[in-house]
Amino acid sequence: MITGGAGFIGSHVVRLFVNKYPDYRIINVDKLTYAGNLANLKDIEDKPNYTFVKADICDFEKMMDIIQSNGVDGIIHLAAESHVDRSIKDPFTFARTNVMGTLSLLQAAKLYWESLPEKYEGKMFYHISTDEVYGALTMNHPEGVEPPFKTVASSEGHKAYGDDFFYETTKYNPHSPYSASKASSDHFVRSYHDTYGMPTIVTNCSNNYGPYQFPEKLIPLFINNIRKRKPLPVYGKGENVRDWLFVEDHARAIDVIFHEGKVAETYNIGGFNEWKNIDLIKVMIATVDKVLGNPEGYSLDLITYVTDRLGHDARYAIDSTKLQKELGWEPSLQFEEGIEKTVRWYLENQEWMDNVTSGDYQKYYEDMYSKR
Ligand code: NAD
Ligand code: DAU
Repeated sequence: MITGGAGFIGSHVVRLFVNKYPDYRIINVDKLTYAGNLANLKDIEDKPNYTFVKADICDFEKMMDIIQSNGVDGIIHLAAESHVDRSIKDPFTFARTNVMGTLSLLQAAKLYWESLPEKYEGKMFYHISTDEVYGALTMNHPEGVEPPFKTVASSEGHKAYGDDFFYETTKYNPHSPYSASKASSDHFVRSYHDTYGMPTIVTNCSNNYGPYQFPEKLIPLFINNIRKRKPLPVYGKGENVRDWLFVEDHARAIDVIFHEGKVAETYNIGGFNEWKNIDLIKVMIATVDKVLGNPEGYSLDLITYVTDRLGHDARYAIDSTKLQKELGWEPSLQFEEGIEKTVRWYLENQEWMDNVTSGDYQKYYEDMYSKR
């Protein structure tokens, strides 16, 4: 059972599992909120090993019913409210879905797992979390230094903007209602292992990018705005640092960890690929302009500095050494390659973009960010 499979990362995980494991029966459970979109799964929806169930993870009876009636022997849990700006506006929805929803799913999984006649060897509950639970790192090297590690994902001339990283042992210190809700759900998941012995696993990943991301997030929003010659709202000075990983590499990591990871462990997932927002935005502008055949620098005038996000975390940087050394996972794609692939995908899939942007979701929090 994969929850949140109609969302951005979930759809890549569902696609990977359905195609790679024809002998598995994959059940995608998703409420189809504004962020869920079955068009993300068009290419696999008719596969015989795939089923979709529209349901809310907060509905405990329904979760119990799905797990029991299908004999679910592993849950990969991605369903969540995922956008920080929305959490600032409406924290209750984040507590409901991310905390209470995860708890309701955990309890249903536990009751079923306890009822199994034989000792269960797999991973009953694999919880997908975020690096944001660790809080924010300082930017003690604002100009960047040579990082201790590099991976295929690390961009050309890769720099680290500090000498500290998020490790699996880093203490939780969430700042936004989103990350606080994810941190709470992570604690509940671990408590189900420590208290009841249920086989659980938690992973914390850095920022993902790639096809099918809802265009309220930085990369698809800006690609679409550049195409439409609309302003690009850069929060604050644009100096916050994020660590970017191609979404298919995250899905591959989830596959490896689900099958090979150790129960009760935590694995950080990331590619050592830090970018200041403003530098990333300039790469996006250059790539979109190149693909559209615009002159160099044509869309730079769209950059618009706006009020900063409340509690905006300065820097995220994941250390994924444990995953790379213990399970042999590594990213497959270099960042410049991934961003070009992503830009081309959004520009070639304008119908997808127009469909998801036709509602009034953009008005939801636009009053929070005004031009400075
Ligand atoms: P998303 O917002 O694109 O998708 C979330 C999905 O969950 C949607 O399909 C939505 O319909 C579904 N959903 C929401 N509430 C639900 C409910 N109550 N019941 C059932 N389904 C519900 O999110 P995403 O970016 O794909 O993130 C997926 C997971 O990965 C989240 O748990 C997120 O915290 C985590 N994560 C995301 C990133 C990232 O960069 N996007 C990085 C690390 C971790
Ligand atoms: O680090 C993992 C997290 O990455 C995930 O847990 C979240 O689900 C995911 O949404 C993402 O969170 P961020 O807040 O980092 O992503 P977002 O795309 O919203 O913003 C990326 C950076 O860009 C951040 O510093 C805020 C800035 N930003 C964002 C938007 C939408 C802007 O400057 N302007 C914008 O319009």
